[in-house]
Amino acid sequence: MSSAAAYPILSTPIFGKRLVYLDNAATTQKPQVVIDAMNQFYQTSNANIHRGIHHLAEKATLAYEAARETVARFIGAENDEIIFTSGTTQSLNMLVQMLGKNLHAGDEIVLTLMEHHSNLIPWQEMAREKGLVVKFIPLTANYTLDFNKARELITAKTKVLAFTHVSNTLGTINPAAELIDLAHAQGALAVVDAAQSVGHLLVDVRQLDCDFLAFSGHKMCGPLGIGVLYGKKDLLMNLEPAFFGGGMVEDVSSEGGKALWLASPQRFEAGTPHVAGALGLARAVDFLEKQGLKQIEAHCALLVESAMMRLKKIPRLNIIGPDQGGMGIVSFTLEGIHPHDVAEILNREGIAVRAGRHCTNPLMKELGLADGTTRASFYLYNTEEDIDVLIAGIKKVQEVFC
Ligand code: ALA
Repeated sequence: MSSAAAYPILSTPIFGKRLVYLDNAATTQKPQVVIDAMNQFYQTSNANIHRGIHHLAEKATLAYEAARETVARFIGAENDEIIFTSGTTQSLNMLVQMLGKNLHAGDEIVLTLMEHHSNLIPWQEMAREKGLVVKFIPLTANYTLDFNKARELITAKTKVLAFTHVSNTLGTINPAAELIDLAHAQGALAVVDAAQSVGHLLVDVRQLDCDFLAFSGHKMCGPLGIGVLYGKKDLLMNLEPAFFGGGMVEDVSSEGGKALWLASPQRFEAGTPHVAGALGLARAVDFLEKQGLKQIEAHCALLVESAMMRLKKIPRLNIIGPDQGGMGIVSFTLEGIHPHDVAEILNREGIAVRAGRHCTNPLMKELGLADGTTRASFYLYNTEEDIDVLIAGIKKVQEVFC
């Protein structure tokens, strides 16, 4: 797979040790080509977009719109279905604000118990404001979604089914197309939080037939602070924007009344966007496509399989995730040792993992894991040697605490 040499940060020693970066579900590292794309924008094309008629403004606008085209093609969408945002959190918050305008007391929103707070709190807040009912699809004993319960919970009262494609805590890959079919059969909208899936496996919005989908650039080798909200064109056309400002109106008057919005996507991109971020994201897409999405998925699956096999041999270590493994993620607990202590000792070995509740408190409460888990998450630059270092690090943690 992709050589670590392509990512400058991976050659930075941590406490004098080789960096073993296993926190990819939080953010991925950036290849030099992505860093270069952003630098190049600031060095050669920096200007505001969709406003000026001078040379640089034109150049920046064309580059930004070309980036949108690249991202649209990547997920099987059309250009005007791609709204650039700051990331999944902003995408989901603005979507809830926009959909919320058409929701009424008693309407039901169905989520899953494995949602990240980003796809949970916005709905809960909207539910409090509007008197909506939020229901949660529970998990099976194997940390997968209970599909029979999903069938029971998604009814004619359901207005929105919003679910994570891949759990950031468990790695569980949810049956997205089947869940979307369940929602549509009841006339509900289907919203996918794809923060952990886009850039890790092939995601095609037309094949999935989702109504909305959100993801972040930084979890797929792209820059921080850029993300996407995809929406079906006919749905976007009928949505009122959540944010207001420059660059999104056809006309507005001091007489009051309603401003006239531009069409999508400008309608939803008020203010100056993160142009360098969009260019960096497009370069990340090109980079991942060169590696091959199928190859990336297979590589991460092999790493998860190997890590699970080796972790299972360690006494007093419990894997918190599906038996068959998840998408690039292995969560575990070490009996009698707090996950923060595990992460700190691993840190001293140069290993970056995440420890805690992973912004999934309802899931952790359900699993009775008040302290959370330690999570190792893999991406295309990780290797079997990284797993060797992780296993040795965990043994060291146990030595320290025994
Ligand atoms: N959502 C990111 C994670 O799971 C930040 O770590």
